[in-house]
Amino acid sequence: MNLLATKPLDTILNEAHETGEHSLKRVLGATNLVSLGIGAIIGTGIFVLTGVASAKYAGPAVVLSFILAAVGCVFAGLCYAEFASMIPVAGSAYTYGYATLGEIFAWIIGWDLILEYAFGAATVASGWSGYVISLLGDFGIKLPPALAGTPGSPFVYYNNHWEPLSRIAPALKAAGVDAAALPHAFGAFNLLAFIGIAITTTILVIGIKESANFNNFIVAVKVAVLIVFLAIGGMYLLHHTAQASANWHPFIPPNEGTFGAYGWSGISRAAGVIFFAYIGFDAVSTAAQEAKNPEKDMPIGILGSLVVCTVLYILVALVLTGLVSYRLLNVPDPIAVGIDAAGVRWGSLLVKIGALAGLSSTMVVMLLGQSRVFYSMSKDRLLPPFFSRVHARFRTPYVSSITVGIFVGIFAALIPISILGELVSIGTLLAFVIVCAGVWVIRRRRPDLPRPFRTPWVPFVPIMGILISMLMMVSLPLNTWIRLFIWLVIGLVIYFLYSRRHSRVQQALAAGRLEC
Ligand code: ALA
Repeated sequence: MNLLATKPLDTILNEAHETGEHSLKRVLGATNLVSLGIGAIIGTGIFVLTGVASAKYAGPAVVLSFILAAVGCVFAGLCYAEFASMIPVAGSAYTYGYATLGEIFAWIIGWDLILEYAFGAATVASGWSGYVISLLGDFGIKLPPALAGTPGSPFVYYNNHWEPLSRIAPALKAAGVDAAALPHAFGAFNLLAFIGIAITTTILVIGIKESANFNNFIVAVKVAVLIVFLAIGGMYLLHHTAQASANWHPFIPPNEGTFGAYGWSGISRAAGVIFFAYIGFDAVSTAAQEAKNPEKDMPIGILGSLVVCTVLYILVALVLTGLVSYRLLNVPDPIAVGIDAAGVRWGSLLVKIGALAGLSSTMVVMLLGQSRVFYSMSKDRLLPPFFSRVHARFRTPYVSSITVGIFVGIFAALIPISILGELVSIGTLLAFVIVCAGVWVIRRRRPDLPRPFRTPWVPFVPIMGILISMLMMVSLPLNTWIRLFIWLVIGLVIYFLYSRRHSRVQQALAAGRLEC
C-alpha cells in the first residue's frame, strides 16, 4: 500500500474530458467564471469585518491591510491559475495534490477543503440569517429566539422585541441600558440559516446554468450596492475635504504598546482578520469541468475576480474611513454607518439588501465547490460511489449536493459563527500552502506538461504564497489550530478505515496496472 501513490495526469485529463449524460455540463464562459469568483468573494468580509479590523487594529490603515491580504491571495491565485488551466477538473486542490504530492496528501487536502467550502457556506448562512431576521424585523415579523439563533446564543427583550444580544449591545450601551437587567432567552436552532442552505441546495441541484444565472443576478446587485456606496461617499468626501483629512489623520495610528493594537503590527493583524473577505476566488477552479474553455478561462475567472474585488475593497475601505472616524466603526454594519454619515437616509436599507445579496451568492459558490470536490473524491473511490452520481436530466452531482446541503444546514443551525469563521480561514490557508507547494513540485517533476497559464517567477511566487499564508495561519488563535488538528485526525481515521481500501489508484497499483 503506497500512501504517496500519485494519480497519473493522463488519467485525470481523460476523465476531465468525458462527455455524456453522466458527466457535468460544460456551459460556463469567462464572464460567468469571473462572476462566480466575485459571487464567492464579496460577502461577510467587506460588509462586516472591515469595521472591526479598522476600529480595533489598524485605523484608516486598514486600507493597507486590504492590500497586504490581497498580495498573499494574488500569489496563491497565480498558483491556482496554473493548476486550474493545466488540470481543469472539479476536484481543484484535491486533484492537484493527487497528481503531484500523492494520495495521502490529496485526501488531507480534500478533507481540509470541507473546512473551506462546507464550513464556509455554514458561516455565511449564519450571517445571512442575521440580515434576514433584521429585514423581517423592519417589516414587523419576529421569530421566537429558540428558532433565531444557534444553541445558547443570548437574546434580550427590549422595546417589545426579542433581539440578539450581539446585535443590540452597541445600541443598549449608547442608551445607557444594562443588558443584564433585561429578560433573557436563548437560541436552540437557527432555522433561517437552515432554510438558506436548503434554498441554495435546491438551486444547485436544478442546474449549473441556473445556478450561474442566479449568481450573475445577485453579483450585479451586490457590486452595484458597493459602487453606489463609493459614488455617494466619494462625492461627499470631495465636498467635505476637511472632514476626510481629519478622519484619515493619523493614517497609521501609533501602536498602543501591545502587538496588534494599531501601528504596523495592527495592520498585519487586521490583514489576518480581513483575509476572510478574499476567500472564494479559488472556488472558481471547482467549476473547471463545467467550463467551456477551461484552459483559457480558468485563469481569467480566478485572477479577474480577485482583481475586481481587490480594487473594490481598497476603495471601500478608503471611503469608509474618510466618512467615519475609525473609532466608531466597531459595529456589525459598518458600511451602513458610512452611508448614514454621508447623509443618505435610505442608505442602510440599501446596504442590507447588498449584504443579503452578497451572502446569498457566497453560499451558492461555496456549496457548489464542496459538492464538486466530493464528486471528484468519489470518482476516485476515496468516498462512496453515490457522491459522484450525476442526475440524468439536470447533469449535476445531485446526491453530493443534497448530502452536503443537509450537513451544512445542520452545522449552520447549530454551530456559532465565530467558531465556524476561524476554521474556514485556517482550512483555506492550509489549502493555499499545499497548492503553492504543488505548483513548484510539478514544475520540477513534469516540466514537459503543456501549461496554458504559467505562474510567473517560480519558485519565488509559490514560496511567497506559502510564507504569507503561513504567517496568517500563525496569527490565528491556538483553539483554531487544535480544532484543525482534531479535524485532520478524524479525516485520517476515515482514510485508513475506508478510503485507502477502496481507492482506485491503490487497486490499479495492486493489479500492476499502474506504477508509482
Ligand atoms: N469572502 C467571503 C466572505 O467575505 C467568504 O463572506
